[in-house]
Amino acid sequence: MTDKTRTRGRLPMQIPADAQRQGGPVSAARRRFLAGSAAAGGALAAGGLLGGKALAGNPENLPPNIPDWSRYLGAGVDAHPYGMPVEFESHVVRRNVEWLTATSESSVNFTPIHEMDGFVTPNGLCFERHHGGMAIVPPEDYRLMINGLVDRPLIFTYQDIMRFPPESRFHFLECAANSGMEWRGAQLNGVQYTHGMIHCVYYTGVPLKTLLQEAGVKTSAKWILAEGGDSAGMTRSIPLEKALDDCMVVYSMNGERLRAEQGYPVRLIVPGWEGNMWVKWLRRIEVGDKAWYHREETSKYTDLLPNGKARKFTWVMDAKSVITSPSPEKPMRAEGPQVLKGLAWSGHGRISRVDVSLDGGINWQAAQLHGPVLPKALTFFTLPFEWHGQELLLQSRAMDETGYVQPRMAALQEVRGVNSIYHNNSIQTWLVNANGVVDNVRLG
Ligand code: MTE
Ligand code: CO
Repeated sequence: MTDKTRTRGRLPMQIPADAQRQGGPVSAARRRFLAGSAAAGGALAAGGLLGGKALAGNPENLPPNIPDWSRYLGAGVDAHPYGMPVEFESHVVRRNVEWLTATSESSVNFTPIHEMDGFVTPNGLCFERHHGGMAIVPPEDYRLMINGLVDRPLIFTYQDIMRFPPESRFHFLECAANSGMEWRGAQLNGVQYTHGMIHCVYYTGVPLKTLLQEAGVKTSAKWILAEGGDSAGMTRSIPLEKALDDCMVVYSMNGERLRAEQGYPVRLIVPGWEGNMWVKWLRRIEVGDKAWYHREETSKYTDLLPNGKARKFTWVMDAKSVITSPSPEKPMRAEGPQVLKGLAWSGHGRISRVDVSLDGGINWQAAQLHGPVLPKALTFFTLPFEWHGQELLLQSRAMDETGYVQPRMAALQEVRGVNSIYHNNSIQTWLVNANGVVDNVRLG
């Protein structure tokens, strides 16, 4: 393989300084730093202890000394009525890419998936996508209307919704545009930016079916329309079959009430289907006998094919996976035994298998899936491997319970052409350089 076959990732502009430290742009300074830490890593491996004396912030805290935190009384409980992450983890934050946003206010940010040790996304790290900014809806002013082809048009208050028997489930939400910048070549040098428009949350709410039954769906009904209460009025048509299957009207995420960013007080979840259908600040559900062909399902969220026709109603998010470490944000820091980490998901059900290649797709080995492996939820996987300073081309390939296998980009483009922004579920390649720096590259 020659350099000609590789397209190196472009870096998002204006990344904050702390992002650079944590693995945004690959600066010359960072390359030097990495080279240094790789050398230190060799010594650590010999010592058999991570974080040896040479890397300590304050050697006074190391054995056999008694560290500061053992000598003085700690802080009391009054300081944190709502707990926040420890200060040393302050780099674990959502980030945005300036040049992806049309207006002065950012309308999308990305989940730091390279920092996720497992499949659950903490509430404060769930990426946000707003088409008209974040609405603030006081719960007492909230109403959900159900109208159209129903026996009894109804208006629910927030309290009404909470009186129904609840259900709870984990599900991933992936924006249809996740990895969208990568269609034509490696663009963004960071897994947070290439794959971070995803989160996986434990939702609690009411099955949409329960609310629809309360209103009484007429036999002629075939579709529902879900409408958001924000200034964008995000509106999507959903087949009645899906609405009655596993959609939920939720008010809780990971055991606490929804964050404003995620649609407080009430949002729709449409498991396995593209994120824009998960209407936030849900205001109205209309029941009808045909699709509405709103803006978000005609001019947007369709894929223009090479023959000039557009794919519409591309609802399901096909199986996909990505290696989150090593990644541009998680370079190699030491030689010797390593653990590769990643995430896999499928809108069709459970992940059945993830294969990993260290040599650009020539040889593959099965990764370990860390349970629980839930349908339409993220699955965390790992693979132990050895690194001795050689170049690697890392890839992961997910398979789901339907037998579908995550494709290479070339295979996807043969069918879809290169006009798409949405539904890029192709295999991602990371180049591990000899000095430990990891880059986003395209192998075809
Ligand atoms: N719902 C409303 N009302 N307004 C919006 O702008 N954005 C959609 C969807 N629901 C949107 C919305 C898009 S494009 C996505 S990807 C998801 O919400 C993002 O959900 P999140 O902000 O919880 O990550
Ligand atoms: Co979206």
